[in-house]
Amino acid sequence: MPPFEPVLLANVGQEGSHTLRFYEQTGGYQSLRRVLKEQSPVQFTDIVKNSNLRGRGGAGFPTGLKWTFLPKDHPGPIYFCLNADESEPGTFNNRILMEDDPHQVIEGLILSCYATRATTAYIYLRFEYPLAYQRLQLAINECYEAGHLGKNIHGSEFSLDIYLHRGAAAYICGEETGLIESLEGKRAWPRIKPPFPAVEGLFRKPTVVNNVETAACVKQIADRGVEWFKSIGVPADPNNPRDAGSYGPKLYCLSGHIERPGCYEAPLGITVNQLIDEYGGGMWKGRKPKAAIPGGISMGLLKADEFHCPLDFNGPGKFGCLGLGTAAVVVMDETVSMIDTLHNSCRFFAHESCGQCTPCREGTNWALKMMNRIKAGKGRLKDLDLLLEIGDNIGIMPGTTICGLADGAAWPIKNAIRKWRGEFEEFIKRTNPQGYQEESAVPALELIGIH
Ligand SMILES: Cc1cc2nc3c(=O)[nH]c(=O)nc-3n(C[C@H](O)[C@H](O)[C@H](O)COP(=O)(O)O)c2cc1C
Ligand code: SF4
Repeated sequence: MPPFEPVLLANVGQEGSHTLRFYEQTGGYQSLRRVLKEQSPVQFTDIVKNSNLRGRGGAGFPTGLKWTFLPKDHPGPIYFCLNADESEPGTFNNRILMEDDPHQVIEGLILSCYATRATTAYIYLRFEYPLAYQRLQLAINECYEAGHLGKNIHGSEFSLDIYLHRGAAAYICGEETGLIESLEGKRAWPRIKPPFPAVEGLFRKPTVVNNVETAACVKQIADRGVEWFKSIGVPADPNNPRDAGSYGPKLYCLSGHIERPGCYEAPLGITVNQLIDEYGGGMWKGRKPKAAIPGGISMGLLKADEFHCPLDFNGPGKFGCLGLGTAAVVVMDETVSMIDTLHNSCRFFAHESCGQCTPCREGTNWALKMMNRIKAGKGRLKDLDLLLEIGDNIGIMPGTTICGLADGAAWPIKNAIRKWRGEFEEFIKRTNPQGYQEESAVPALELIGIH
């Protein structure tokens, strides 16, 4: 097999890589011109479908298949939303693409709109990305001037407008229906599905939502073809008809206690160990590893003896985690307290829950209150089972919530306590030696002097 060649990050870090001039000099927009001339939207959709590209935004849903859910003879308009909200902790691959290679993203977006017959696209951008905002807007302006956007693109019958929309910094705006509500000018409360966005999305019209890296992959598939894409990654399991495989290159965000944190492009299926040693330069100061988040905190936690976990769409699930998520790997060394880690995670999710669903709104706050209490030295051993009960009972998986945020809150709780129970028990016994017993499961903390 030929050595792996990074393509998504090929231009990143090069002088002027964000300009149209640079991009066109490296062959940019040639695929767009060719596809518009030689392929119908259905043919291009089939190419993406055959590549088995799975969405890079977190859920890993097959991209081409999602596009086919749009109604066939809809009079339009059909909308396309590019999800650039990127708020999963530790995740920054979309930012790097948008800052250093915005035209790669935009070419992928235009191709995706052509395939889905969308005539208006919105890029929903995380507010805290000012450089990406400037560079994307510059790139969009350049595209209009060069005829890559607007009416009858390159003499074809296809017309497209792209609007750049900045969010206002809330994690829930990245959930696709929360994003749609926010774009409509409302509070980003996720919608109950069905109807799914493909049938009734933005302004009640058929809508596709895809991630920034997914769009970049679409552009690479248009350039290099299905065989190239499927030669990278982990093939589908022939004994599992539901396994769509994990094909193609992937951007892994590596951070935490490693020598060289950064965004690295590797074939899907690389293990945590390989990522740390071959890309990250090993553990920081040669310290011993303790834990890693495999794909954003909402995916849960791996123990150091699970670092042989392959980072493909099925890998983390085999080690008790939720999935690959955003492939944002945060590595923790042996000095890190799992009590602090879980406390931090609980603070994040309690703060970001939109509050529509009782199990999520209350559950994330109960978990936080119990973690506050444990940290304050008033924890009870039975709190650990209570926390697990919350973790097992909130989320889409047990079917109690509208969106996946609650699952994301639950997995770190379940993993941290099940995988490091001894550390939690030792902490509670050490910090609460008299066995202080608060009667209420979820006390009003100010009553026991904890704020
Ligand atoms: C709470 C929550 C936050 C999310 N945040 C993002 C995000 O910031 N970016 C993203 O692409 N997907 C995010 N998603 C996933 C989206 O709902 C959706 O699945 C994704 O944008 C689809 O794109 P893809 O098919 O290309 O992966 C989030 C999901 C949830 C439940
Ligand atoms: S699961 Fe949580 S974040 Fe999602 S809609 Fe319900 S309350 Fe809001």
